[in-house]
Amino acid sequence: MHARIPAGTADTAPMVEARSAFLASGAYAPLANAVAAAAGTPSGLVVDAGAGPGYYLSRVLDAAPSAVGLALDVSAIALRRAARAHARLGAAVWNLWEPWPVADGVADVVLDVFSPRNAAEFHRVLKPGGLLVVAAPLPGHLAELGDLVLAVDERKEQRLETTLGAYFTRESVTEVVHTSPFTTRQVHDVVAMGPAGFHLDRDGRRERLRWTPARNVTLAVAVGVWRRND
Ligand SMILES: C[S@@+](CC[C@H](N)C(=O)[O-])C[C@H]1O[C@@H](n2cnc3c(N)ncnc32)[C@H](O)[C@@H]1O
Repeated sequence: MHARIPAGTADTAPMVEARSAFLASGAYAPLANAVAAAAGTPSGLVVDAGAGPGYYLSRVLDAAPSAVGLALDVSAIALRRAARAHARLGAAVWNLWEPWPVADGVADVVLDVFSPRNAAEFHRVLKPGGLLVVAAPLPGHLAELGDLVLAVDERKEQRLETTLGAYFTRESVTEVVHTSPFTTRQVHDVVAMGPAGFHLDRDGRRERLRWTPARNVTLAVAVGVWRRND
């Protein structure tokens, strides 16, 4: 089945290429570790909403030997990578704003890493007491890259509470803040893989990116654990 979706929503081939190369470099390993720790060791189904190439879901499955994973994403190109990323991972091309192809109350954990949040579907597919793990950028995330990346909404935490609060209770938040030296390739890929990747040809961004030197870059992300309200 093909997902119906407006243009500029699904990650494109160059964005997926950049994301895969960047994640393989290990630069976001501290975030993957925090997501895996937040998910714990589920023994059943883990659904990753907007899984991209399946990097974070694979790390969760590595830590949970009897769990199985389902990657949902509207980008078929990203999901082709996800489907090959782990032996216990299946993938479905899906628009997260449509009712998901998942039964009621069957998932132990839902992951959402930098992806759209459909709170009603998160709640419907989770078992009673199931966990939602949400990773979202904090102010300061990738700050050294200035306007090459899109600004983080300062009220993101408040917006999360508004979106999720009717269905979930927040149990914990871990702030992953880590500054490390990025090569020119990592600088390029981290810009090209994100929302700015849809607009590289605007405002001379592609040209400026080409001449942006290696530098220290800060990863600043909140990993929230939310428990399903029954
Ligand atoms: C910023 S990327 C994050 C990917 C992955 N979670 C990661 O961090 O590597 C956002 C992902 O959400 C997907 N996406 C955006 N809108 C979507 C929608 N309405 N339904 C399904 N996937 C969507 C994009 O294709 C992309 O793979």
